[in-house]
Formats: sequence, structure tokens, C-alpha cells
Amino acid sequence: MMIQLKIETKNALPFIETSAIEAQKKSMQLHLKELKNKSGKGNDFLGWLDLPDHTEAGLIQSIQSDADRFAKQSEVVVVIGIGGSYLGARAMIEAMNHHFDNFLNDKKAPHIIYAGQNMSEDYTSDLLELLDQKSYSLIVISKSGTTTEPAIAFRILKQHIENKYGKANAKDRIIAITDKERGALKELSNKEGYPTYIVPDDVGGRYSVLSPVGLLPIAIAGYNIQAMLDGAKKMKDVVFAEDYDFENNPAALYAAYRNALYNKGNTTEIMVGYEPRMYYMTEWWKQLYGESEGKEGKGIFPAGVSFTCDLHSMGQYIQDGLRNIFETVISIKAPNKKINIPEDDLNLDKLNYISGKRISEVNFKAEQGTTLAHVDGGVPNLRIEVPYINENVLGEMIYFFEVACAISGYELDVNPFDQPGVEAYKKNMFALLGKAGFEKETEELTKRLSE
Ligand code: PA5
Repeated sequence: MMIQLKIETKNALPFIETSAIEAQKKSMQLHLKELKNKSGKGNDFLGWLDLPDHTEAGLIQSIQSDADRFAKQSEVVVVIGIGGSYLGARAMIEAMNHHFDNFLNDKKAPHIIYAGQNMSEDYTSDLLELLDQKSYSLIVISKSGTTTEPAIAFRILKQHIENKYGKANAKDRIIAITDKERGALKELSNKEGYPTYIVPDDVGGRYSVLSPVGLLPIAIAGYNIQAMLDGAKKMKDVVFAEDYDFENNPAALYAAYRNALYNKGNTTEIMVGYEPRMYYMTEWWKQLYGESEGKEGKGIFPAGVSFTCDLHSMGQYIQDGLRNIFETVISIKAPNKKINIPEDDLNLDKLNYISGKRISEVNFKAEQGTTLAHVDGGVPNLRIEVPYINENVLGEMIYFFEVACAISGYELDVNPFDQPGVEAYKKNMFALLGKAGFEKETEELTKRLSE
């Protein structure tokens, strides 16, 4: 079966020497081999490679049956998690949901909302106010089981749900997704008797969307998780095909071009979407690439814009600012719905020349016009095109971005699967909160803050 995702590089070519692409082409072949043979850096974190075709049917069935149970008993399901334990599910659900999902009353699937991705008192308090009025269930996701943000949210929501439904009934409304044996969340789940799903040892947070971490919330939101895995499997077959075909290997092409651009000084990559439903896909991509590549003083800075909205805020900079950027556009060929621009007798806005056209036609002309203008302004452009958005196409996109990220990291000679830098803020926060074991840091930081 053919993949539906295509990548277009013609608007990046004028900015790169052919020899640089030739060199990248060879490197990417090697990096794909390293990945497949599990011989590169971080090779104990490659379980995500096999999620599309090695996820057992029994696990899918169990996820689906828990999803159906939660859907029946809840108007709202709160997904508690942060970073890789949050963004994948949100990206997929928001890419497919009705834009005004939370205002719809006649939905079959519950509304999915999120907690534990911030430590805002106001957000948490508003959430509790909402949950006072709705029937709800909780999914708490943390691989380590010790992350502060989701742990605080779960502590609060656990009390709320137990007060609302009683401790015994609350157990039927909580599912934990965590490590198979370690961590406070696992211990708590064992003690309280919550059903749990496992985040596999060899799957890191930001690569976990095709594991129960993403699959359970996505299934609860009413989407077909098997179709998503099937899409990812199609992409897997293409990117790891026996005969390396650079021009038809989207992951190799994307990684090669973005690294060639980086080597020319394009140190910021801006992901551009023209559909607001892709906003969280960009957030997921930002984490995937930022956390995988940004280390040892290296890495492309991943940024995101949502056009045409941000053309009215960021357009000036992109057209005319510091020339260290390139754009990667996600272009969705066909919208799922149809609206034509009406004729207007008065025509005071002078828009009758486009009356009868679909809004998507105008959006597409905006994309084409913007790309040409930005290329003329010195911004290289890569374009990822998909025909439409559904589970299958999103599965392709996930796997494509993950593989391209891994081989991009190998090209930078970093370990794309660790995140040592994330610890620095935590250490300071714990010290400033006076956690036992941080006494020396508490003293030092308190002094620094008072200077
Ligand atoms: O990609 C990662 O590893 C991180 O973003 C983690 O997913 C994030 O920090 C949350 O960690 P945990 O699932 O252990 O709570």
C-alpha cells in the first residue's frame, strides 16, 4: 500500500549545494541502518520503532474496551500528563476533533481535557469547578511516575473524584499508565487497585504516542487506533525498505534537507500550519525535535506558526528578519468540510471576484503566495503534503517525524533519546521548595535570589 505523505524540496534546493545533499543522502542511509540494526546512540530506547507492527491484538482490545467503558460513564475524561505523556494524544485528538468539541452537547465520545501539564492554580481551580458539574473519569500518565506537575494534579483530582463518587466507585474511573514496576504512580496504583497500562521500558516519552500513552486517550476520544497503527506501519515499510530509495524516502529526504540547511546557518526551523487543527501537532513536533536534538551546544531550534493567523504577527519577521530560519509547511490538500464564499450584492468588501470559491482554495493560494514571498525573502522552504487528515494519515505522519528525528539526531552526533538538560530546572525548583536532600542548593539559590 502506498503512503499518502509527500515531501517537496524544490524551494529549499536553491539554498543548498547539490554536493551537500549528495553527502546527506549517504549519511541518512547509514543512519537508517544504525537505527534498524540498533547500533546507534541511545539504542536501548528504540522500542517505538516496533509499535506499529508489534502491538499485540489483545492490548488493542483491552484499550478499546476500557475506552468504551470510560466513554459510557463520562461526559469528560481528564488526561493528566506532561511532555511526552501528554502532547502526542492531544496532537492527534485535536487534529481530528470538531474545533468546538467542548461546546457540543450531542457527542457520542466524551470531551477530553488535560491537566498536569502546568502548575497554574487558576487553571486547576477552574477545572475543579467544571468537574463539579460533569460526570468524569481520569487517566493519569507518567512513565517515571514521579513528575511533579502531573503528580500534583493527580493528588488533587484523586481527592475530588473520591469525594464525588466515593472511594470504591472512584477506582472504576481511574486508569494509570506508567512503568511496569518502578515509580510512585505504580506503587499507588497497586495499593489502590487501579487498572494500569505499561509504558514500555524502551520507549521514551516523546516517542510514546503509539503506545498506550497515546492510544488510550485517542480511543476514548472516539478514534480508530488500529487505523493509526496501520498508517505508521505503511510508513515503516517505506522508510526501512530494503533498497534505499532516497527520493522516495520521506524521512531520509526531510532529515537530509533540514541538516543541509542547518549546516548553512539555518538554525531555526519554523513549522507552518494552515489548519488550526494542526496546532498541537506542531507542539508535539517541537518537543520531539527540540528535546531530541538540542544538546551539547547543537541542534535546530524548532518553532511553530499557524498561518494565515500568524502572518499578521510573525509574517514580518519571517519575510524580513534575521536570515537564520527555514520553514517546513504542513499542507493538507482537502479539508473535511465544505464552505463556499457567497456572492454579495453590495460587494462593498470587493470580494465578489472570489465568490463561489471554497475557503480552502483561498487558503491554498495564500499558502502558495506566502511560500513564494518567503523564498524570495531568503527563507528556504520544505513542504510536507498529506491529502487529508484521518487516523491513517496521522499514523504515517507520526512515524515519519519520529524516524526523521532519530536520524537527524544521529547526523548531529547526539543521543536523540535522552534529555539530560530537563533536570536542571527541577533541581532548582526542589531546592527552592525546601525538599529534603537539597539543603546545600537551597542555601545557595536562596542567596542568589536575594542578591
Ligand atoms: O520525552 C520525555 O521523556 C519527556 O517529555 C517526558 O515525557 C516528560 O518529562 C514526562 O515524564 P513522565 O512521563 O515520566 O512523567
